[in-house]
Amino acid sequence: MVEDKARFEASRRTLEAQLHLFRTGQRGGCDRAHLMTKAARGLSDRNIEALATFFSNLPHDNATSTAERR
Ligand code: HEM
Repeated sequence: MVEDKARFEASRRTLEAQLHLFRTGQRGGCDRAHLMTKAARGLSDRNIEALATFFSNLPHDNATSTAERR
């Protein structure tokens, strides 16, 4: 379905961009953002690509952002 493909692409691009920002320490966040920075630090470009692709392929029905859960 065209919509699914667009959603997948948007998600993949967003995740890749955010992981790159976390990896280089450019992405801030809440008081626990340093955990994400630490987790992303050891990732290669290929790791980031694979993670973004994998998570973008998951069903999105119950997805909530960090902000929505607070
Ligand atoms: C050991 C693994 C991980 C740890 C410890 C971790 C930890 C965290 C924490 C604490 C935050 C909140 C940061 C903040 O807003 O201040 C966060 C956010 C985030 N994480 Fe992770 N994470 C992990 C794995 C992943 C993976 C595998 C992905 C992507 C595939 C990912 C993508 C993100 C994104 C995009 C945000 C921002 C969410 C938002 O703004 O709503 N994280 N992570």
